[in-house]
Amino acid sequence: MRDSDRTYALVVGASTTVGAEYARQMAARGHGIVVVARRQRLLDRLADEIRAQHGAPVRTLAVDLLEERALETLLEHTRDLTIHALVCNANLHRVGPFEETALDTKLHMLRMNAELPMRLAHAYGPAMVARRSGELIFLNALNCMTALDFDGVFQGTKSFLLVFGESLWAEYRRYGVKVGVAMVGGIEGSESYERKLSEVKRRIVKWAGASMAPSHIVAQSLEQLDRGECILIPDVAVPVNRLGYQVGVAARSLRSRTVTRMMSGFYRWLLDGEESQAAGVHPAGRRPVPSMARGRPPARVEPLFDEDRPLPAPESPKAVPTPYASEGPASIAAEPRP
Ligand SMILES: NC(=O)c1ccc[n+]([C@@H]2O[C@H](COP(=O)([O-])OP(=O)(O)OC[C@H]3O[C@@H](n4cnc5c(N)ncnc54)[C@H](OP(=O)(O)O)[C@@H]3O)[C@@H](O)[C@H]2O)c1
Repeated sequence: MRDSDRTYALVVGASTTVGAEYARQMAARGHGIVVVARRQRLLDRLADEIRAQHGAPVRTLAVDLLEERALETLLEHTRDLTIHALVCNANLHRVGPFEETALDTKLHMLRMNAELPMRLAHAYGPAMVARRSGELIFLNALNCMTALDFDGVFQGTKSFLLVFGESLWAEYRRYGVKVGVAMVGGIEGSESYERKLSEVKRRIVKWAGASMAPSHIVAQSLEQLDRGECILIPDVAVPVNRLGYQVGVAARSLRSRTVTRMMSGFYRWLLDGEESQAAGVHPAGRRPVPSMARGRPPARVEPLFDEDRPLPAPESPKAVPTPYASEGPASIAAEPRP
């Protein structure tokens, strides 16, 4: 194949599990590959493997996507390539009580899980539309429609991603561009999954059929995307996977407070890994609500507006720190060009 005819798959968040597997399976479909994540060492290893197995050209880009100029760097890195497929896999998921979670962490979740996929689609979608061919895949969670009392920001970002992806599917289908939202349960081998659920809970989820090997997830989602589907549910024939999604949708439309409380309780029980306990999510690690827990009345709440108190002098405006501090240059390793 001539270099100018080659199409590429860009996998954002490709150093581990599902992302790495999308890169492998896209290479098996004949695409050149661009892999993006923070850990250069893992990207290099993956690139060597893909080159050896599929003879495909691979570019790697080690960059922290939370950095201000990361997207610019990425665009620069791929400017000369025809990106046929874009896989948005990178994400940030921190559980914990809303008031105990730092604002920066919340903003970073919005940035990674909602703003970034939208910006990537904005950057790469128009060329696909112009060519009347392309694929956009957004990685999402099966339970993304479920409201959880310790996971509101993450669930909110993933709900956005679902509706955004479905809307784009409806818009782009007339141009021959496929858009899929992959609704995934547990990902075997995922570091984040292993930090959130203990081994016992992971075994229960696997037994129920709701966790899968990355290769299986990717193969199934690509098969469903090929058929033009938008909601890609790996192992959709297994009831727990279909149900996991449908319960979330039903809970949304019922707007039932009881369902929200029940689902929150269920996931608090399920998420008993180290990270979940440290964040006070699982009942075993749950911190009591201050004072109320011991039956005392809550501390006196300062009135928002006290007419007898003089108004404080206006403060001089403070500089607002940018949530995506830019630190250090991204490192780029490109396929040696002839
Ligand atoms: N884990 C699960 O069981 C599970 C369940 C349901 C849905 N999902 C969805 O499946 C997808 C993958 O999940 P995951 O748990 O495997 O995600 P992850 O471990 O948090 O990250 C996936 C990839 O993104 C990269 N990444 C993370 N933060 C980055 C940053 N700031 N800049 C650049 N790259 C970054 C990671 O590599 P580096 O660390 O090398 O940067 C990795 O290659 C997500 O969209 C998630 O919502 C996961």
